[in-house]
Amino acid sequence: MKTEPLVLGIETSCDETGVGIVRGHTLLADEIASSVDEHARFGGVVPEVASRAHFEAMVPTVQRALDRAGVTLADVDAIAVTAGPGLAGALLVGVAAAKAYALAAGKPIYGVNHLAAHVAVDTLEHGALPEPAIALLVSGGHSSLLRVDDLAAGVTPLGATIDDAAGEAFDKVARLLGLPFPGGPPIDRAAREGQVVIPFPRGLTGPRDLAEHRFDFSFSGLKTAVARWVEARARSGEPVPVNDVAASFQEAVCDVLTAKAIDACREHGIETLVIGGGVAANSRIRALAGQRAEKYGIAVRVPRPNLCTDNGAMVAALGSHLVASGAEPGRLGLPSDSAMPITLVTA
Ligand code: KG4
Ligand code: ZN
Repeated sequence: MKTEPLVLGIETSCDETGVGIVRGHTLLADEIASSVDEHARFGGVVPEVASRAHFEAMVPTVQRALDRAGVTLADVDAIAVTAGPGLAGALLVGVAAAKAYALAAGKPIYGVNHLAAHVAVDTLEHGALPEPAIALLVSGGHSSLLRVDDLAAGVTPLGATIDDAAGEAFDKVARLLGLPFPGGPPIDRAAREGQVVIPFPRGLTGPRDLAEHRFDFSFSGLKTAVARWVEARARSGEPVPVNDVAASFQEAVCDVLTAKAIDACREHGIETLVIGGGVAANSRIRALAGQRAEKYGIAVRVPRPNLCTDNGAMVAALGSHLVASGAEPGRLGLPSDSAMPITLVTA
């Protein structure tokens, strides 16, 4: 029997140095070195700090992943690396490292799209992705609805945010509420202690918006509405009910995301919805998507929370899918592309 490909994946698009190793759909190692603490006091990721941290963490993280998986570089069949989108300097460190490992060990290299990797990672938990599928991709930098007919060949964008990304909205609202960065996890926790009592707006859901932006998102108006509400409360001298604001804000985001994702499934007659990206770690989006999908016989696939946020396993998972699909590896001179479009799966 032919053994499945052993693929090492490297992720450096933002502030996590992630190295994952998979065989087929089986996860063997997922090592992360995060520089998040170094950025926390700035309230956002500082690109130069992230690049330097990747540079320092790269070799030890690769070694830890190989040790954890119980393999050597010589055993690996292919190396996959995030080529984009992401922070230009951060991407360069990962791509340069992947090329060096590929050249030294004589392995094929795949420069892959970070966003497609957020979709592919689900295969490590739930097996091959039924195609076609609808993917809802919600991270710190992107919020998109995609139709996936063949993940190895590319995806079709159905809609995207016209302003802030969903994760960005979580981060900005958290800051407003005095919660730490990144804002998704503390808002998720605070919301569990709060009630959905404030009617925050649902962007792009009115009849006119739906005619033009049926599968697009907007979170900037919501963020402003939360800011205005909190300011008014503070002016009145009353304490800000942080847990209720968190719960009401989170509900507004998850309501729109899940409603539009289910609508896309129904419009396309597709019975699989996969949710990926950091915001897919949110407990409310997971619960609400499941509830709403059930009514229409749509199966929701969401990877476990630590596979939703950036990691190396997702890059290895997409690499493994590309190898299994017979995709051509990249050139050793392959570029990194900070603005890599979602329609390109490889660089
Ligand atoms: O995919 P990711 O790790 O990095 C990017 O590619 O952007 O996503 C990071 C984003 C951050 O904005 C973070 O606040 C958000 O994902 N996030 C969450 C949760 N965990 C992380 N948002 C809501 N609820 C969570 N539990
Ligand atoms: Zn990401």
